[in-house]
Amino acid sequence: MIKTTIAETYKYVDQEVKIGAWIANKRSSGKIAFLQLRDGSGFIQGVVVKADVSEEVFKAAKSVTQESSVYVIGKVQKEDRSPLGYELLVTDVEVIHESTDYPITPKNHGTEFLMDHRHLWLRSRKQHAVMKIRNEIIRATYEFFNENGFSKVDPPILTGSAPEGTSELFATKYFDEDAYLSQSGQLYMEAAAMALGKVFSFGPTFRAEKSKTRRHLIEFWMIEPEMAFYEFEDNLKVQEEYVSYIVQAVVKNCQVELKTLDRDVSKLEKIQAPFPRISYDEAITFLQEKGFDDITWGEDFGAPHETAIAESYDKPVFITHYPTKIKPFYMQPDAEREDVVLCADLIAPEGYGEIIGGSERIHDYELLKQRLAEHELDMDAYKWYLELRQYGSVPHSGFGLGLERTVAWISGVEHVRESIPFPRLLNRLYP
Ligand code: 4AD
Repeated sequence: MIKTTIAETYKYVDQEVKIGAWIANKRSSGKIAFLQLRDGSGFIQGVVVKADVSEEVFKAAKSVTQESSVYVIGKVQKEDRSPLGYELLVTDVEVIHESTDYPITPKNHGTEFLMDHRHLWLRSRKQHAVMKIRNEIIRATYEFFNENGFSKVDPPILTGSAPEGTSELFATKYFDEDAYLSQSGQLYMEAAAMALGKVFSFGPTFRAEKSKTRRHLIEFWMIEPEMAFYEFEDNLKVQEEYVSYIVQAVVKNCQVELKTLDRDVSKLEKIQAPFPRISYDEAITFLQEKGFDDITWGEDFGAPHETAIAESYDKPVFITHYPTKIKPFYMQPDAEREDVVLCADLIAPEGYGEIIGGSERIHDYELLKQRLAEHELDMDAYKWYLELRQYGSVPHSGFGLGLERTVAWISGVEHVRESIPFPRLLNRLYP
């Protein structure tokens, strides 16, 4: 007997296979039972025809409950109407464990209820599809950076310094010292770039932001590339090529999942480099002309501003050259205009907001020291970071892509809470 998974059934058309699965859903009549089977690799319909199986098997198929675990044996058949393209003509059903009163029934449940049952909700077809897309983005990320000469470097999670400002830090004790959970690996990635040239990291980051929006998580995962000898323009090029690469990887390798999520694939197919750019100045003028009277030069954009800007494009758009005073201390000022920095935020289409923040970094020792002082940061804590500018300093650039916002956008799910397995939100640390 061939033991296989649902995703691999296409290899065994017209053959009998055995699959370990759960009952996602079921319907039956006097003569036929339809089992919606899932095994983690995918979903398939199992058809049990009373006339073709023993009385015992048909009884088992009719009475098996939602989320019971089973071994099924059946013949793989082509079925164009199913999303997978195949179904299983079941000949045997063996119940491994009977599930009783599964809380998430096919009816509609409220968000809080589903979030309380996140450990079970993950089994649903939609959540499964989002997690598969997340996985594909991670896979394609490693592939893209490995193929382009980057080395993966892992920055620490427990840190003594804060790259993005001190207000959003989770403080903890490190024996007798104060420590913080990492809010970005960037500063360490800069050190790594001076050792390895082109590097990227992928890890969890933490921000104690009291924001309760569909774009904010307290714990989220970031991909942070950093490149020695890359200047502002080089940095944007990597970003647009990387984002196009992961979107096209999902389009190619997650067709079933995108269909499950009802995602408009034609919108994703358009995501190809190059991406449009507008400067912060142009964005301000655009918004004011659109009637936004709540924003003036020198202020940061909020979600409605970003959405209004993004609506003019069907690709992600770079907003470049933000005012120096609203950006972190490490950004390189524009040589022609000291009041703006060589940075860009990448805004996703369809209202998903900023998915990337990046910049060229200051590589001049004196200027960096001056900026640290202006931002009232502790020189001792940044001694090592300053040293990177004392021994063969070079222009360098990098960026951070927020995985969950990117997954939400590509999957087309409304809220980032559905793009991470166990979201940490303002009022949620459970399950
Ligand atoms: O723009 P941010 O704060 O940039 C940095 O942390 C840089 N040090 C990165 C770098 O240059 N290496 O964050 C980068 C991205 C944002 O564009 C967004 O996608 C995501 O991280 N992000 C969040 N995602 C979910 N919840 C939050 N609270 C987020 N804060 C930032």
